[in-house]
Amino acid sequence: MKHNTQTLGKIGYIAAFVLTIVGVYACLSRYILPHGFHLWLANILYGTDYTKDALPALASKPGIEIVHRLFGAVYLVIGLMQFNPGFRRKRPQLHRSLGKLFMIFSITGAITGILFALLVPFAGALEAIPIIMFGGFMGYAIYRAYVHIRRGKVMLHRAWVARSYAIGLGVATIRVFYLVLQYTTSNLDQRDMFMVAVWAGWIITLGLVEVYNQMLQAEQAKKSNRRNQLAT
Ligand code: HEM
Repeated sequence: MKHNTQTLGKIGYIAAFVLTIVGVYACLSRYILPHGFHLWLANILYGTDYTKDALPALASKPGIEIVHRLFGAVYLVIGLMQFNPGFRRKRPQLHRSLGKLFMIFSITGAITGILFALLVPFAGALEAIPIIMFGGFMGYAIYRAYVHIRRGKVMLHRAWVARSYAIGLGVATIRVFYLVLQYTTSNLDQRDMFMVAVWAGWIITLGLVEVYNQMLQAEQAKKSNRRNQLAT
């Protein structure tokens, strides 16, 4: 069991690393790449409708956009550092400080994301449903994580941060799904594809993180049972 959990943890970390690269690219490409090249790549990665309609709509809210993109990119990099066990062991004080920043950026990410869905939704009014649900859950989960660590409940803290982080990483899963859908389905509207990718990306990322959480908790319970048996 322990072996399984450790292997799964390593695979999960590699997946998080790849998703961080995807997410940071999505966030910063607009500011870093020459405009024409960015649009050319966006047409390939996001499709013509998203490039033509959504990207200019997001750019029409520059304040919200810059907070969402810049803090989002930093959030993903902090998340990767925080979930590295070596980093937590070697730099506990930095882990605490970055944890506070991570919490703030989770909340700004959720709020600005919800504003996008309400003000300039690519897929129409129904886009607000998953965005408010998963964005709300991201904020709720990070709040639960904070309350648990204040009470010294490390395992519960870890599990709730992972749930919140699953929503942040899910943003990159959504982009991977959206890309795959573009090239595998020909008769689906790009806006419908986007909605499918949003629901599937978040549900699957959250589901996988929850499986890992449950395995870790079962392993922990087994360990403490064994300790209790030895003590009696
Ligand atoms: C914190 C991690 C997050 C990152 C790194 C991130 C990244 C991005 C990026 C880069 C875009 C611009 C589109 C693109 O160029 O790909 C975007 C748009 C958007 N994000 Fe996020 N995001 C994050 C969190 C969230 C959350 C939690 C929500 C939900 C509340 C959300 C909702 C949205 C929405 C609704 C859009 C506009 C989609 C549309 O065109 O209708 N984001 N995000």
